[in-house]
Amino acid sequence: MTNQIRLGVIGCGYWGPNLIRNFVEFPGSEVVAAADLDSSRLDTIKTRYNSIITTTHYPDLFDMHLDAVIVATPPATHYAIGRDCLEHGLHTLVEKPMTLNRLDAERLVDLAAQKGLILMVGHTFEYNAAVRTLRQIIASGTLGDIYYVDAIRVNLGLFQRHSNVIWDLAPHDISILRYILGAEPVQVSANGSAHILPNVVDLAYINLEFPNNITAHVHVSWLNPSKVRQITVVGSQKMLVYDDVEPLEKIRIYDKGVDKLPYTESFGDFQLSYRYGDITIPHINFTEPLRNECQHFVESIIHGTQPQSSGYVGLQVVKILEMAEQSLNGAAMQEKPNGYITVHNQ
Ligand SMILES: NC(=O)c1ccc[n+]([C@@H]2O[C@H](COP(=O)([O-])OP(=O)(O)OC[C@H]3O[C@@H](n4cnc5c(N)ncnc54)[C@H](O)[C@@H]3O)[C@@H](O)[C@H]2O)c1
Repeated sequence: MTNQIRLGVIGCGYWGPNLIRNFVEFPGSEVVAAADLDSSRLDTIKTRYNSIITTTHYPDLFDMHLDAVIVATPPATHYAIGRDCLEHGLHTLVEKPMTLNRLDAERLVDLAAQKGLILMVGHTFEYNAAVRTLRQIIASGTLGDIYYVDAIRVNLGLFQRHSNVIWDLAPHDISILRYILGAEPVQVSANGSAHILPNVVDLAYINLEFPNNITAHVHVSWLNPSKVRQITVVGSQKMLVYDDVEPLEKIRIYDKGVDKLPYTESFGDFQLSYRYGDITIPHINFTEPLRNECQHFVESIIHGTQPQSSGYVGLQVVKILEMAEQSLNGAAMQEKPNGYITVHNQ
């Protein structure tokens, strides 16, 4: 097929093969080449997709007349590899988190703008039909004024040696919160602890204050017996639970709440009335989020439009993660393991 976007994938560990499968299946793209330092990873790719050229030296991809690359290597390598790809004139999709610090993220955003290239970050949940439905429900006012959002993403492992649980798991929740609330947090703080590897935080609680007095909490852990991926949104009218582990009924809207009755002299106090109404389960037309994401990357290149999870969005999420980490470090330095150090957004 002509006019296909010619792609290379760098990093074929756990996630890279999922990206390759989706780009291979999408008619608008052709996966020309795959790179990984580990040749056994490439053997697996070659067994499944014989036509893909493989190499252990990713710069070989720069001589293959590609249009774009996907960087699915460990986060510590994203900046150097992403920069190299952009400098070689390639549209670039970098896995999450885009980089491990704000400065590097800004440099990638500036470089992409300078070169007129698409830079996108793999915030897969922004392409998840349940999260999109959640955003619509909040925007429609069905829940009333939003009081707070509680996000939990916990399981047992997989421990990363060169990053902590915040950089590994929280990019998803931070990107979801920004997306569903349509706003940036004005204040970020965090606390957490390292139980298994020295100085590698494996449990963290991040607190975010959004405009309109909306509070959000993100609980991430590699040390939990159960796999939980749940977001609760509590509003003045209704409450909602999004359970990503649930195969079909991912969102439940509860007509539950507490109303304060007018002050009465006879009681000398405020009376509270509790509502216990119906539960609604919206129908969600679910397609694989990664497939939507891959398709969106190719279409953004074809139409020359900024993707939903653009480099700028990647930068905003990195800034928030960095603030959470500074807050953690501040707490550690002051030997206040349970105290919150607040970091103000600029
Ligand atoms: N969007 C999502 O839902 C999602 C899910 C899982 C992982 N990820 C992200 O994908 C990225 C990769 O994660 P993973 O779990 O696949 O890690 P992984 O360790 O399983 O795989 C990374 C691969 O990159 C290769 N690699 C490292 N440096 C390289 C280099 N210089 N050149 C070529 N190859 C190199 C390694 O050999 C390895 O095979 C991470 O950024 C992670 O956060 C995203």
